[in-house]
Amino acid sequence: MTESGRALERTATFGPDDWWRRGVVYQIYPRSFSDADGDGIGDLPGIIDRLDHLGPTGLGVDAIWLSPIYPSPGKDGGYDVSDHTRVDPRFGSEADFDRLVDEAHRRGIRVILDLVMNHTSDEHPWFVASRTGRTGRHAGDYLWADPAGQDADGRPRAPNNWVSWFGGPAWTYEPRRGQFYHHTFLAEQPEIDWRVPAVEAAQFEMVRGWLDRGVDGLRLDTFNVFLKHPDLPSNPTRAGRTPWDRQVHLYDRDQPDFPALIERFRAILDAEPGRMSVGELFDGTVETAAGLTSGSHLVFDWTLIEAAWNASAVRSAIEAREEAFGEGRWPTAVLSNHDRRRQASRLADSAGAADAEAVARAAATLLLTVRGTPFLYYGEELGMRDVDIAPEESVDPPAFRFTSGSHWWDRSRCRTPMPWSPGPGSGFTGGRPWLRLGPDAGERNVEVQLTDPRSILSTYRRLLALRATTPALQIGSLRLHPDSVGDLVAYTREVPGQRILVLLNLGRVNSRWQLSGIPGEPAWRLLFDTDTTAPRDAVIAGGATLILGPDEAIILEAIP
Ligand code: NOJ
Repeated sequence: MTESGRALERTATFGPDDWWRRGVVYQIYPRSFSDADGDGIGDLPGIIDRLDHLGPTGLGVDAIWLSPIYPSPGKDGGYDVSDHTRVDPRFGSEADFDRLVDEAHRRGIRVILDLVMNHTSDEHPWFVASRTGRTGRHAGDYLWADPAGQDADGRPRAPNNWVSWFGGPAWTYEPRRGQFYHHTFLAEQPEIDWRVPAVEAAQFEMVRGWLDRGVDGLRLDTFNVFLKHPDLPSNPTRAGRTPWDRQVHLYDRDQPDFPALIERFRAILDAEPGRMSVGELFDGTVETAAGLTSGSHLVFDWTLIEAAWNASAVRSAIEAREEAFGEGRWPTAVLSNHDRRRQASRLADSAGAADAEAVARAAATLLLTVRGTPFLYYGEELGMRDVDIAPEESVDPPAFRFTSGSHWWDRSRCRTPMPWSPGPGSGFTGGRPWLRLGPDAGERNVEVQLTDPRSILSTYRRLLALRATTPALQIGSLRLHPDSVGDLVAYTREVPGQRILVLLNLGRVNSRWQLSGIPGEPAWRLLFDTDTTAPRDAVIAGGATLILGPDEAIILEAIP
């Protein structure tokens, strides 16, 4: 961190050390956020220019998570890194990065980097050295294995039956070594061997380097895959739709010694208070996510993001999360990211003929009031939609690499540039955007939505402001209300002295809710309503009946 950065941090720009629990994290896909130099690709100076949209005078988020900013051949949208220690010059200079950290800190925004430590690009110098022979400093840095004999045509046979998530085998033969290397993802993403002490030491040195530059948190890409079974046994097989599903992934992820690795990693972060990390759970259950969560090391679970937009699915997701995480572990809340469909599109589609605008507002309410640290993907605050991208315009090679048996879809559709204002380039770029903007960018942009108190952006701003001043919404316990039936999802969030009731109508018709008149809850204060067309009373008596319209969400506070 620069001297000015340290000075700023000392002047208490920041709140308590448990910001990672109370706060909201905003995910930026840097290529698509804001382009300052007009080359059509978002960059770090562009992010600096937009910090006021995110800081206390805007949304008021607590941290930004930057999807990878490192040099990368771009075979997997930046998740194929060729140098983990530097900034890709396309995004700016090293000085730009330090300035971004300082400028973010000045606004009370923490910075979280996305570390891809499971694999590198095949253009990473370690791999370039490793693949040429079995001797040399980096020879053992990757997961190399001898062939399991030869097939009938005399070709080397892969060491075991593991398959790639993106489709095809998880092993690629390297004739120069006479061995195979492993890749859970693309062949251009060879897997690092974390069991080699020098490899772990090098990874941790890289981690320290970023922390020294003022980074406040780290997202660990596909972290539960770091370790594989040392003997590389074949996975058992089972029935399933795709080659990946047809294996029980006993040996290529989630190894018993993995939690100890995370403890060693956490020890580095814990040298200073308030540093968080979040592991991206790869293809696992909510129980696995909860099991790997501890203290300020969070883990994404996919229960909410995978729930269809109906009350019973959302109630089940909330129940499963509460049961798995319990009181002692802190969950995350995620409804979209750079790998998944935009939430307004996905949820409205899953509900049938729903009004996607209303769904986006209610989804915002769920994201920001359910127990757990919310991760808000850029553009969701505008209700951005999946954008149709023709195959020849796709920027997601894995989507087309394998036509059969692949799990993946074209992620270009959820990575389109952020629209800031009307006009050519939508304020994202003065040049030609690297990926087309959504067809609605002329109206669905920050400038236009700021002027409309009913816009999705205004909804997010109201919700975020409410959350920032409502301890029960930040850190309170969650209890699904026993009367949460039919189309209604109802839950309370509570800290001593404050009880909040959240009501979501996830149906296409009106729903009724009778407020309890139980002693101690004589009346309720209306804190928030997604529907601002017909304002409700500010105070509602216990025992009153509320009618919620389709996809309407309201938040109430008990007046003792
Ligand atoms: C998880 C990332 O979120 C995804 O975008 C990427 O394709 C895979 N890891 C492989 O790097």
